[in-house]
Amino acid sequence: MPGFTAYVGFYEICSPKKGEFVFVSAASGAVGQIVGQLAKLHGCYVVGSAGTNQKVELLKDKFGFDEAFNYKEEPDLTAALKRYFPEGIDIYFENVGGPMLDAVLLNMRMHGRIAVCGMVSQHGMTDPSGIHNLFCLVPKRISMKGFIQSDYIKLFPQFVDYMTKHYKDGKIEYVEDMSIRLENAPAAFVGLFSGKNVGKQVVCVSQE
Ligand SMILES: NC(=O)c1ccc[n+]([C@@H]2O[C@H](COP(=O)([O-])OP(=O)(O)OC[C@H]3O[C@@H](n4cnc5c(N)ncnc54)[C@H](OP(=O)(O)O)[C@@H]3O)[C@@H](O)[C@H]2O)c1
Repeated sequence: MPGFTAYVGFYEICSPKKGEFVFVSAASGAVGQIVGQLAKLHGCYVVGSAGTNQKVELLKDKFGFDEAFNYKEEPDLTAALKRYFPEGIDIYFENVGGPMLDAVLLNMRMHGRIAVCGMVSQHGMTDPSGIHNLFCLVPKRISMKGFIQSDYIKLFPQFVDYMTKHYKDGKIEYVEDMSIRLENAPAAFVGLFSGKNVGKQVVCVSQE
């Protein structure tokens, strides 16, 4: 069942409260789409970022995000986040790193939490982006924690019960991007780093 990483990151790392303001980057990806829906089920206000207008519509229309924006069309990410979160961000679910993280740090609220799930923008970089605004962690008392979902495997039965109930009630949607045949797997993998996938990238090796 998909969504374990999202479940661990949102509930264990973010300690969410009803009514909090949540931002999710790479929000149409395998993890982000579930994080946003869990946050909505929890009673949070949720905004996602994605790299195409088609994905932005998907976030709002299919996954029920309150708002979404195309980060590639925003010349100033700090200003964009200020527009969507005039009162600031309580929880940032980090999937991308780089300039987005810097802009988020300037927009976090007091006692905010940042769950560092991944930093896809930094993969394969020989000279990773420096982060300039980490000092915001101090006056705003922000917690920032990385996690690996396999460390929380004891939560898996609890996760399956929770997700099964919500799937059956039609409260969770899940979008996959299916690539057919093993020889297309390398292109599908490379496509993750330019956002070619819409939803979780899956490779169908055989239909037998
Ligand atoms: N901690 C854990 O246990 C764990 C487990 C699984 C995955 N992860 C990490 O979690 C993150 C999300 O994984 P996922 O499986 O949800 O992703 P995914 O489905 O593989 O989607 C990746 C998406 O990231 C976006 N992206 C690619 N390059 C980018 C860049 N330079 N800047 C901004 N966005 C970029 C693209 O969407 P756009 O079109 O929106 O740009 C792409 O569709 C990744 O960093 C992954 O490594 C961590």
